[in-house]
Amino acid sequence: MTSLSDLPLRDNLVGKQPYGAPQDPVPVSLNVNENTHPLPEGAVADIVAALADAVRGVNRYPDRDFLELRGELANFLNRDLAQGQRLAAEQVWAANGSNEVLQQVLQAFGGPGRSLLSFTPTYSMYPLLADGTDTAWVPVARPADYALTPEIVASALAEHAPSIAIICGPNNPTGTPLDLEVVRAAYDAFDGILVIDEAYHEFESERPSAVTLLPGRPRLLVSRTMSKAFAFAGVRASATSPRTPR
Ligand SMILES: Cc1ncc(COP(=O)(O)O)c(C=O)c1O
Repeated sequence: MTSLSDLPLRDNLVGKQPYGAPQDPVPVSLNVNENTHPLPEGAVADIVAALADAVRGVNRYPDRDFLELRGELANFLNRDLAQGQRLAAEQVWAANGSNEVLQQVLQAFGGPGRSLLSFTPTYSMYPLLADGTDTAWVPVARPADYALTPEIVASALAEHAPSIAIICGPNNPTGTPLDLEVVRAAYDAFDGILVIDEAYHEFESERPSAVTLLPGRPRLLVSRTMSKAFAFAGVRASATSPRTPR
């Protein structure tokens, strides 16, 4: 059979294998950080009822801007936000899992001649997303305890001046928390897009989210997902809060 590499692929993709963590039939699977608890039956019944209703309209294209979903996600986040920090639907972007959100961020702000920086070890998809969008990957090693400080991030970002930086907090795979003072220092240290990947925020929700820092920081994006704490990985739902409302 013709393989992808026999086709006129972009040079930097030739010979690459698609990403895929093993999905082996083992009794305990920890490799993709899925929630081990299924959805409660009540939630399943509500979702099925809502789907039965929604499916009646699938002859039409959906609302292209999916403002209802974005509004609900904003309402959910707003429960933890003070007046002045609350989000409007227009500030929330949603996609098929945060991997897709991050890919879209790279499609818009990365690309040839541009770069993505992150602090390693960290989520293994970041360099792959950089590759797939022809964005240069700039890994900066974390110190021995994996903890980032304002000084470490500010000096790396000022030195490399990347187009995009992604900081994962709590960090996958080390679990290292991320202080908001580090986020503030990172934002001030360069002119690019700063993404805080909070895929695991709910496991440490006593720590304030970087969402609280969005007002006045138009280059800051915060990525959240329903895949982990909400046991919703199969649904592929996640959100980013990117921009100031119109
Ligand atoms: C740090 C981090 N970000 C993003 C993701 C992507 O999750 P999803 O695409 O399911 O939202 C993961 C999944 O393992 C992750 O660990």
